[in-house]
Amino acid sequence: MSIAILIVLHLLAALIWVGGMFFAHSALRPTAAEVLQPPERLTLLCGVFKRFFIWVKASIVVLFLTGFGLISLMGAQAKLGGHVHAMLFIAVIMTIIFGYIYASPFKKLKAAVADKQWPLGAQALGKIRALMLTNLVLGLITVAIGAGGRYF
Ligand code: HEM
Repeated sequence: MSIAILIVLHLLAALIWVGGMFFAHSALRPTAAEVLQPPERLTLLCGVFKRFFIWVKASIVVLFLTGFGLISLMGAQAKLGGHVHAMLFIAVIMTIIFGYIYASPFKKLKAAVADKQWPLGAQALGKIRALMLTNLVLGLITVAIGAGGRYF
C-alpha cells in the first residue's frame, strides 16, 4: 500500500475518533444535560456511546495498522522523527483509557440504564465524561504532533 493511502486512512481514523469526542463533549453532552431529565439523558447517551464506540474500536485498529505501515514505509527512506514516537506513546495511553472506559464505566452505564438505576448511571456517566475529556485533550495534542511534527 502506498504512503498516500496509508496517510489518508490514518487521518480519517484520527478524525472520526478525536472529532467524535469533541462533538460529544462540547455539544451533545451539555445540551442533553440542559434539556433532558436523567432517564432520557442517560438512555440517549448510552445509545450514542454504544454506536460511537464501534467506530472508535475500528479507528484504533486502523490508526495502529496504518501507523505501523507508515513507519515501515517511511523508515526506509528517512530516520523517523521524535514526533512519531510521541504519537505512538500517546496513542497507546489513549487506547488504554478507552479500554478502561469500555470495560468499566460504560459497562456500568449500560447495566444502570437497563435496570433504571439513574443515580448509578449518572455516576458512571460522570466517569466516562472525565476520562473522555482526558482522551480528547490527548487526541488534540496528538493531532498537533502528527500534523506539525515534521516541521517543528
Ligand atoms: C490517536 C492516535 C493518533 C492520531 C490522532 C494521529 C494523528 C496523526 C496525524 C494528524 C498525522 C499527520 C498526517 C499528515 O502528514 O498529514 C499523523 C502521521 C503519522 N502517524 Fe499518527 N496518529 C495517531 C496514532 C499513530 C500511531 C499509533 C502510529 C504508529 C503506530 C502513528 C504513526 C504515524 C506516522 C508514522 C505518521 C507520519 C509522520 C510524518 O509524516 O512525519 N500514529 N498521525
